[in-house]
Amino acid sequence: MKLIFATNNKHKLEEVTKIINKRFKIVSLKDIECFEDIPETQNTIEGNASQKSHYIYKKYKMNCFADDTGLEIDALNGEPGVYSARYAGEDCSFEDNVKKVLKKLEGTKNRNAQFKTVISLIINGKEHQFEGIIKGKILNKKKGNLGFGYDPIFQPENYKKTFAELPSEIKNKISHRGIATKKLADFLKSF
Ligand code: IMP
Repeated sequence: MKLIFATNNKHKLEEVTKIINKRFKIVSLKDIECFEDIPETQNTIEGNASQKSHYIYKKYKMNCFADDTGLEIDALNGEPGVYSARYAGEDCSFEDNVKKVLKKLEGTKNRNAQFKTVISLIINGKEHQFEGIIKGKILNKKKGNLGFGYDPIFQPENYKKTFAELPSEIKNKISHRGIATKKLADFLKSF
């Protein structure tokens, strides 16, 4: 069965293709020649994932899924959350976002945070959501060069290293996205 993954991110595609049963042929937006910007105008992670999958399903009439992720920091009332990609402004870099978080948390004792991914799958016209959460804390400064985004300042619970210091095989297993993807893969076993 063909399943569209509403992304063009090569790493995400690889990760997902490895976990999901080979009976499913995962195709990207590029594969279906979808080159437009898919709207992401909701104010929750769940809402954005759902908006993206519905957009694709409506337009291409094919089973599909979309994901959305955010870093939720307790002391910032859940920010950057749904704005994680553009926390420091529209065309900002990962570096700008990290700097903004560190600045906002200066002098703050409570460093608790979590990454949350929601995957919205639409299969045979029905939506199903899968959530992955990893708890951890935000360090005072960056550590490590691996990964992307907020990885250098996020240290997952029960680990002494940041996501940017952990090899990708370990990060992918324990991460928000890894957990949500595993739930999706388990669900698809019944199809
Ligand atoms: P997206 O919904 O997967 O595009 O993620 C939105 C934003 O969250 C990204 O632009 C990153 O800033 C951040 N992000 C998502 N996943 C991760 C991760 O695994 N590590 C660090 N930052 C992440």
